[in-house]
Amino acid sequence: METNPAPEEFALMTQRARAMWALGDFARAGAEQVIVAELLCRAIDIHPGERVLDVAAGSGNAALAAARRGARVTATDFVPQLLHVAARRAAVEGLVVEIEEADAQALPFPDGTFDVVLSTFGVMFAPDQARAASELVRVCRPAGRIGLTAWTPRSVMASSQATAGRFAPFPPIRGARSPIEWGTEAHVRELLGSGVTDLNTQVLTTEMCAASPAARVEFNRTYVGPTKAIFDRLDPTGQQALANELADCLQKYNRATDGTLIAPAEYLQIMATKAA
Ligand SMILES: C[S@@+](CC[C@H](N)C(=O)[O-])C[C@H]1O[C@@H](n2cnc3c(N)ncnc32)[C@H](O)[C@@H]1O
Repeated sequence: METNPAPEEFALMTQRARAMWALGDFARAGAEQVIVAELLCRAIDIHPGERVLDVAAGSGNAALAAARRGARVTATDFVPQLLHVAARRAAVEGLVVEIEEADAQALPFPDGTFDVVLSTFGVMFAPDQARAASELVRVCRPAGRIGLTAWTPRSVMASSQATAGRFAPFPPIRGARSPIEWGTEAHVRELLGSGVTDLNTQVLTTEMCAASPAARVEFNRTYVGPTKAIFDRLDPTGQQALANELADCLQKYNRATDGTLIAPAEYLQIMATKAA
């Protein structure tokens, strides 16, 4: 039987993850997926004045999409510099978004604080999935809504992460779950459990674009913290091998035939209502 990592192993994974996400500048990649947050906020029907929490908000895509609909929004993440980008983006648009540094596995809010709890490609990366899921449910008010997105197992993101993972500097911790499991309805049902009703999911597709697959790898190793962390620890031969493998992986999904990259990127949109 598989055992869960011990609390100190989860703490170590969280510490490493925070350091990785702080590398580069994820805001550059996040800005490409504004459409995902806009679609989620429309689907979950955010109303003006509702209290909305964006968990693992990064530079605030979901927070901003909710604020554009007139919600009162708080954005949390464990990388403060990304939250500062969210605040700057909000200011440029004349929107108000509160920011608060927080680990998704220990949200600093009383039970039932928010009408809507969102996370776009965010909470899926918390190491202790059961705890992170229970935090989403806990801070949502009874009959409030939870809206999430996660990359599916057959997405270009999942393949790229699996490829990069083979070059990762740390051996996997026994019992640790893959973030990509959040991209399957059965797993999310299990995680959110009886805390929610009306869980429904939809498989949607966004796109990843670049001048070429190789240019995209260069972009990711510069700006996407976890990818940068892996590259930074390899010698030049290893870096070239990883760059080639990642470019090949992207090319498998590429629908462009002019040398550029336009890769459809499949994700699961999850919506649930907190049990009353
Ligand atoms: C792929 S980015 C997505 C960011 C943003 N939600 C978006 O849609 O652009 C993942 C984000 O999750 C954050 N994150 C990962 N694990 C976290 C944790 N345990 N607690 C808080 N934030 C976390 C990272 O710092 C990063 O900003």
